[in-house]
Order: sequence, then C-alpha cells, then structure tokens
Amino acid sequence: MTKPAKPDVRPANTHFSSGPCAKRPGWTLDALSDAALGRSHRAKIGKTKLKQAIDLTREILEVPADYRIGIVPASDTGAVEMALWSLLGARGVDMLAWESFGAGWVTDVVKQLRLADVRKFEVGYGELPDLAKVDFDRDVVFTWNGTTSGVRVPNADFIPADRKGLTICDATSAAFAQDLDFAKLDVVTFSWQKVLGGEGAHGVLILSPRAVERLLTYAPAWPLPKIFRLTSGGKLIEGIFAGETINTPSMLCVEDYIDALLWAKSVGGLKGLIARADANAGVIHRFVGANAWIANLATKAETRSNTSVCLKIVDKDVLALDADGQAAFAKGVVALLERESVAYDIGHYRDAPSGLRIWAGATIEASDMEALMPWLTWAFETQKATLSQAAA
Ligand SMILES: Cc1ncc(COP(=O)(O)O)c(C=O)c1O
Repeated sequence: MTKPAKPDVRPANTHFSSGPCAKRPGWTLDALSDAALGRSHRAKIGKTKLKQAIDLTREILEVPADYRIGIVPASDTGAVEMALWSLLGARGVDMLAWESFGAGWVTDVVKQLRLADVRKFEVGYGELPDLAKVDFDRDVVFTWNGTTSGVRVPNADFIPADRKGLTICDATSAAFAQDLDFAKLDVVTFSWQKVLGGEGAHGVLILSPRAVERLLTYAPAWPLPKIFRLTSGGKLIEGIFAGETINTPSMLCVEDYIDALLWAKSVGGLKGLIARADANAGVIHRFVGANAWIANLATKAETRSNTSVCLKIVDKDVLALDADGQAAFAKGVVALLERESVAYDIGHYRDAPSGLRIWAGATIEASDMEALMPWLTWAFETQKATLSQAAA
C-alpha cells in the first residue's frame, strides 16, 4: 500500500488546544513589558490596571451597566464555586449537565454542599438536556458551552425573563465567542485562558442586580472561606468589583488579559470575535460534512460549539474495534499530528468519548484551520494503513 502523501502546507500556528488556548495573533512577550511588576496591586498603578481589565471586559462583552464584574481567585473554577457556595440554598436548584465540567458542578452541589432539594438534568456527550423541563422558579446551574463535548446552548430563549430563581452560568469556553444574553443570566463566570488566549490564573465573576440582591438577603447555613466571601457585615464588598481583589493577583496575567482585550477591540469587539470563531468552526464543519470517516459529537447542528469542536471517528473499520481500540486509534491520529508538528493537544478530554477536539476560538487564524484539515485526512489514512497492516 502506498503511503498517504503529506500535505504541502502546514498551519503557521500549530496551537489548537482547548485551554490554555492559542495566544492572539502576533503575541510576543513584549506585550507584557508595561506590566506593573514588583509593585503593590493595591497601589494606584495596580488598581488602575485591574479596573481597566474590568472596564474593558464590560465594554467588549457588552455587560449591562448595572451588572458587577469582579476578578476573583482560582480561575473559572474559583468563580463558579464562589457563586455556588454563596448563593445556593435559598430555594431548590435544577442542575444541568451534558459533559464533565457541568457534571463536576452537580457533584459539588449534591455531595459537597449536600443541598436537599436538587433536581438533576444530565445527558450524555453529544446531547443537550430537555431545557423545556427546567423550572426557573428554582435556581438553575448550567454550562453555556460544554468544553469537553462541544455542545452549547444555542441561545438563552429557554430562560424566562420573569424567573424567580437565579441562573448561574459557567461560560468559560463561550465568553468572547458566543452571544451571552445577560438579561437572562444572573451569574456568569469565565477564565482568561480560553477564547482570548490569556494566561490562566484568575476568574471573572459577573453578577446581575438580582444575584446581588440574593447576596444581601440570604446567608448560607455553611461557613464560607475568605476567598469565597462577597459580603461583609451584610453589605456587598463593592471593592471586589472595582479592582480591589480579595487576595493578590498576578499583575503579569492582568497585563496579558488587558493585551488580549485590546486585541479583541481591534478585531471588532464581540461581533468580530464571534465572527472569527464562527469562521474557524465553519472550516471544520465543512470538512466533516465532506468526509464520511469523521462526525461531530454534537448530534444537533444548532448545539455545535464554535470553540471546542469535538469530533468522533466513525469509519466502519474503526467502529468495529472495541472502545480501547477506538481510543488507541484516535490517540494515534493525534500523536501523528503532534509528531509532524502540525497540531498540538487536539485529543479528546480524558473523560469524553474518544476522538478529536479542535479549538476554533477567535485567536485561531482561519488560514491555519484550513491548513490543518488536509493533515487530518493524512493522519487518518496513515493510521488506517497501520490498522490494515495489523489485520493482514
Ligand atoms: C466549561 C468549563 N468549566 C470550568 C473549567 C475549569 O476552568 P479553570 O481551569 O479556568 O478553572 C473549564 C476548563 O476547561 C471549562 O471548560
């Protein structure tokens, strides 16, 4: 059998990881030269930078003026945990999960917070739960874009404007790539290393006036560690939402986030970012449509992510293998692409079905995505030849 021919063109940037994601085009360490290093984050220079990061976040994400935006410890996980532990327990909660991050929040609420009145809406990878069954008179926790299954909610139409409960939305792989409908969201969280390709460290917590109202009128029965506390003496700690972080942030990461936000502005803000992610994901979707050996893990087109695109290998000879064999095949494809220095970190998430996960967020160039596609074919055919040889 002749060896599949290697494509002529390689992606100029081979970083397709789903987090930390590729740095913005043109990024170099020089972008951080203005960082307030070795200075107090509480000095004017530090506070100004933190406030600038908050203000630019509001501007680019189009966050309503009456929503609070805070920079908090421990990345997106920290921001979500802060919200769950500070807000839940006042009423029953509906927990939605369709992949591992959402499932993690279910575990937290059921096994750690041990709330009595919890309803779970859990479905497998590729699906979205029946959103019509969710009761918004209760609190609702969900992930906007399931990073490990590539399934997103298409929009926030399933959330009523006049709900009694709070909606708590983990938006880490959706923010800056998908239209978050803030009027329908009471808590939105994300971290910096996803769509903007920032440095991992801090989380962003966005609170609606209704979420703030809950904080002021409800005190959970359990103790809250200092890094989760958003109120003091019955009042909101407003400083958190003006750049006075609870504990010490990395000013290097803050500088990098500001750089990423300024780049986001330069490509047209939210609309520009969404268009870039859509274009990148479109390249993959067209490729999948034209190749019978590969399919989207998301079963419905309107739920397909434009950031973490998850793909399964559906070639009949591969599907004839057992689950371990299929996983080994997919890993082989990923390893070939890595060995060729064509694409890094595009394997499935450790708990997800085997296949590929390719990041399509705004920091990726569509030309690089185009260049990657023929290499997927090459890696698949090369791996398939190995399979045929083993069978012979
Ligand atoms: C949907 C979702 N939630 C939470 C996390 C955890 O984020 P972090 O590492 O910023 O805490 C991730 C990370 O990939 C994610 O994709």
